[in-house]
Amino acid sequence: MAEQRTSIHGQWTSRTVFILAATGSAVGLGNIWKFPYIAGENGGGTFVLVYLLCIALIGVPIMMAEIMLGRRGKQSPINTMIALAKDENRNPGWVWLGWMGVIAGFLILSYYSVIAGWAMSYVFRTGGGMFIGVTADGVNSIFTDLVSDPERLLAWHTIFMVMTMTIVARGVKNGIEKAVTYLMPLLFGLLFIIVIYAMTTGYFMDGVRFLFTPGSIDGKGILIAMGHAFFTLSLGMGAIMVYGSYLSKDHSIVQASILIALADTVVALLAGMAIFPIVFANGLEPGAGPGLIFQTLPIAFGHMPGGTMVGVLFFTLLVFAAWTSAISLIEPAVAYLVENKGLSRIYASVWIGVLTWFVGLGTVFSFNIWKDHTLSIPYIFEDLSFFDTLDYLTANIMLPLGGLFIAIFAAWVMKEESTKDEMATHPLIYKVWHFLVKFITPLAVIVVFLKAIGAI
Ligand code: PFF
Repeated sequence: MAEQRTSIHGQWTSRTVFILAATGSAVGLGNIWKFPYIAGENGGGTFVLVYLLCIALIGVPIMMAEIMLGRRGKQSPINTMIALAKDENRNPGWVWLGWMGVIAGFLILSYYSVIAGWAMSYVFRTGGGMFIGVTADGVNSIFTDLVSDPERLLAWHTIFMVMTMTIVARGVKNGIEKAVTYLMPLLFGLLFIIVIYAMTTGYFMDGVRFLFTPGSIDGKGILIAMGHAFFTLSLGMGAIMVYGSYLSKDHSIVQASILIALADTVVALLAGMAIFPIVFANGLEPGAGPGLIFQTLPIAFGHMPGGTMVGVLFFTLLVFAAWTSAISLIEPAVAYLVENKGLSRIYASVWIGVLTWFVGLGTVFSFNIWKDHTLSIPYIFEDLSFFDTLDYLTANIMLPLGGLFIAIFAAWVMKEESTKDEMATHPLIYKVWHFLVKFITPLAVIVVFLKAIGAI
């Protein structure tokens, strides 16, 4: 029975550590690099509003469901789905949900690592004083130089993948716990400092207005906002499920999920408030795309007192934030290989890491030698680079689909007595949660999908 299962991979030493690790997974490039640039590309205010609604109505309930499934199954998402389907006497075919998650995680990491590589190279660019007194144009050409050089991108991508494999190989306690305990609070502090700088630009309110004044948005924009809610909370692919499998039974899933979602949202909004004032103060384009933070923040670091130090620290912490997310992206696959193929964590991490590294070459090239090659899938997306295709397929399709089926499994497939027992929360809170995952969440995801393809 579920109650007697224990994880062969170990258990978090405390609730705080679980919250830190899950927050470490949630807070990453998605908050600081991706959120500002997609908000910029999709017009700001309304996008942010839809994103916040998705976090509250879809993200938080699904996070609770995902942690709950993980804690009950106590294995990699693939084996958890097999075990839970069996517990509930349901079709073993639910295992595909675990597999889709493993594939999504591996695809996301392949490009995530390349972008983390940009952040790493910026630690050295900032440290070397490259941005001191430089204009917006100068900062822009430093960024273009970097991404048009495949060899440099490849070197940083390789270094980041080795860093990720090393931590994952060391396992839950020695690797993941240690990395997150100190770094998250520091990142918060630094973001505050940059927001304070942004207040001195004279354009702070323009930035805030851009982020919070509603405008217009189309079906695609809504899908991107919803996809980002999944991406930023690490939902829909088993990362949070596998972390939940290392959580002991006496901790509250509800409280933890709310805390994680809050921390994640605050970081994203702080990043937006740091970046957009700098964008407007320097006459830059909010829709500049994936290079946005690399073309804006260095201007601040080049002009503020102590900017070199703040900049080095900021990019270092960004790398750490990416690192604590990256490890959760391959943890489901590594846990599976350890469980089913009898591999050691070291071998499993190396296998998955090398494969991911290889797929990452596509992203490296899509900013230079493959720049003019694009892909399209009718009705789904048009003319996207290799990197944009991976991002679109994973964040906007695979994660929401995964989340949809996690909700369906938790609310329609599992018996209420099982979920009630595992959630172990106040009856009223349980009712609200159950109602949300049973009706609201699946409906919302389906409506957004239909709207994005123009069916409604
Ligand atoms: N949540 C991470 C971020 O915002 O950067 C990215 C991520 C990690 C997505 C883990 C999905 C995941 F399973």
